Amino acid sequence: MIRKPVVIAGARPNFPKVAPVMHAFERCGIDAQLVHTGQHYDAAMSASFFDALDIPEPVANLEIGSGSHGEQTAGVMVAFEQWLDGHPEVDAVLVVGDVNSTVACGLVAAKAGIPLGHIEAGLRSFDRTMPEEINRVVVDSLATWLFTPSEDGDVNLSAEGVEPSRVFRVGNVMVDSLFRALPAAKQRPVLDEFGLTEGGFGLVTLHRPALVDDPMRLADMLATLCDVAERIPLAFPVHPRTRNMLEQLGVSLDGVDITLLDPQQYLDFLRLEASAAVVITDSGGVQEETTALGVPCLTVRENTERPITITLGTNVLVGFDHDRIVAAVDDALGQARTPAAVPLWDGRAAERIVQVLSGPLPSARFVPPSLDR
Ligand code: UD1
Ligand code: UDP
Repeated sequence: MIRKPVVIAGARPNFPKVAPVMHAFERCGIDAQLVHTGQHYDAAMSASFFDALDIPEPVANLEIGSGSHGEQTAGVMVAFEQWLDGHPEVDAVLVVGDVNSTVACGLVAAKAGIPLGHIEAGLRSFDRTMPEEINRVVVDSLATWLFTPSEDGDVNLSAEGVEPSRVFRVGNVMVDSLFRALPAAKQRPVLDEFGLTEGGFGLVTLHRPALVDDPMRLADMLATLCDVAERIPLAFPVHPRTRNMLEQLGVSLDGVDITLLDPQQYLDFLRLEASAAVVITDSGGVQEETTALGVPCLTVRENTERPITITLGTNVLVGFDHDRIVAAVDDALGQARTPAAVPLWDGRAAERIVQVLSGPLPSARFVPPSLDR
């Protein structure tokens, strides 16, 4: 059983994933510490989530900030290794998701001989042009405990030769946070604030490099969104990566019914998501949240590492093609809302994770040597 775990968070999608885990540790009397790598640092991308999700203060912020993949990953590794050296009491490292902070801290833990848990293990897009796919494969190969959200994760890990004794299907921590926050989110006055009505708008989020770092593709997508906005007004909270690219493109949306917004704090974003007639996104977490909410989701990508949101949920992969996206919006606008019943997406994933971590280590072969710890 572990007694002094450290939980890592660095970027926006990490915060809704670590919140329920920290709460579950607290309920069980396990003294978990939170370390923030500082990969995301704007208040709207980080601090606002601590209030909204009631996340305890991190014991350290490594303040890594932005940079190339090498700079960011290496920066987190150096800083986290130094932090761990000063904390010999740590007996497990828990990482979530697939961002650079996840793989960096996973590598450090594995090399320090500290058991590593990966929450959201086993997801695969089978697209190695995505930096996240590389991060997922590497961290899953290192982890002692692999906590999967759905059966497809178990199947992917098994196909890679991972021993079943390391794999624990626990459900989806993102959905834990969603269910906990929804009552408070529904009280938020954000629709009035932006002149939107319940069910009367579409919500857009875009931030994948494959789309927003390609100026032609981004310009085409904006043209598509302008046509969608003739059918239904759009609200578009803009990720900082996308904001930078839009500034470079110098596009004008004058006269178009698209409201560009700053990144929204978690409760406000959930209110927008739950109230939208359709969501158009390339986000990973948003595919899952819309499935749990029953809101039609069009994913502007060619693949997804979350196929269960298609087979059981509301998600449709629409790629980047104008006609396909516009036709899918027309279909979605006529669609009834049905929240999907995905097995184990029930708000109790974090509880199951802490239950596993309270038991014996899974397999001696995959527990790294203790290295005097
Ligand atoms: C990162 C993750 C991605 C995740 C996304 C969630 C990696 C490789 N990518 O992508 O998987 O889906 O977060 O949002 O880890 N910036 C700011 N303020 C901030 C943070 C970033 O202005 O607080 C700007 C900087 O110009 C930075 C750029 O956004 O260079 C990209 O940030 P970065 O963390 O490198 O990647 P994301 O695109 O956010
Ligand atoms: N989110 C938010 N405000 C926004 C956009 C997204 O609170 O303006 C939340 C969203 O509800 C989800 C998470 O951020 O919980 C998803 O993060 P993101 O899309 O940045 O990353 P990904 O999931 O694609 O890695």
